[in-house]
Amino acid sequence: MGKFQVMNHPLIQHKLTIIRNENCGTREFREVVNEIASLLAFEVSRDMPLEDVDIKTPQGIAHAKQLSGKKVAVVPILRAGIGMVDGILDLIPAAKVGHIGMYRDEETLEPHEYFVKLPSDIDKRQIFVVDPMLATGGSAIMAIDALIKRGVDESNIKFVCLVAAPEGVEALQKAHGDVDIYTAALDDHLENGYIVPGLGDAGDRLFGTK
Ligand code: PRP
Repeated sequence: MGKFQVMNHPLIQHKLTIIRNENCGTREFREVVNEIASLLAFEVSRDMPLEDVDIKTPQGIAHAKQLSGKKVAVVPILRAGIGMVDGILDLIPAAKVGHIGMYRDEETLEPHEYFVKLPSDIDKRQIFVVDPMLATGGSAIMAIDALIKRGVDESNIKFVCLVAAPEGVEALQKAHGDVDIYTAALDDHLENGYIVPGLGDAGDRLFGTK
């Protein structure tokens, strides 16, 4: 069973409060979403494997460490996931980026896939699927289905979001039990497909399309 973790670092919680505020404008929303994404990446990468390496410093030999695990791919779920990519790349600049386009039918809330473009070696990478919202879980489940269809192993996927509804966490765990889920907050419930209290429609707030 994958991990489920609420990232309660004070900086993450403080920044999340800023973007929850309905008076937070597009520019600040965008900036702070990226800042939170960086902080989440810091926590999510905590279990990356290291290997020993001897390095010659100007003063001698250091018995040091370097990353030894799989290379990383960041996979935002379009549109809103794009808002988290730069923040993660600030910490992991060599990561490749894949895109999965999903939109929810506004009536049925059913997700629809409209775009998939991934690095060719995606099945060999540690993948961070990112999307600010985990509401019903439909988009995340379908995005992860798209990865599995291309040979990715569930245990190499971490799903990273800002706000999750209990319904979405449950659905994602049921569909993809080995995926680790990280969120900055676990909110109360869903209402018409929106997370309550949540932060509204992350895509619209990021891109100013409301
Ligand atoms: C929102 C959000 C997630 C999805 C979450 O996207 O960014 O992708 O809904 O809902 P779910 O867990 O119920 O699937 P939306 O479909 O509004 O598209 P957008 O990102 O392009 O605005």
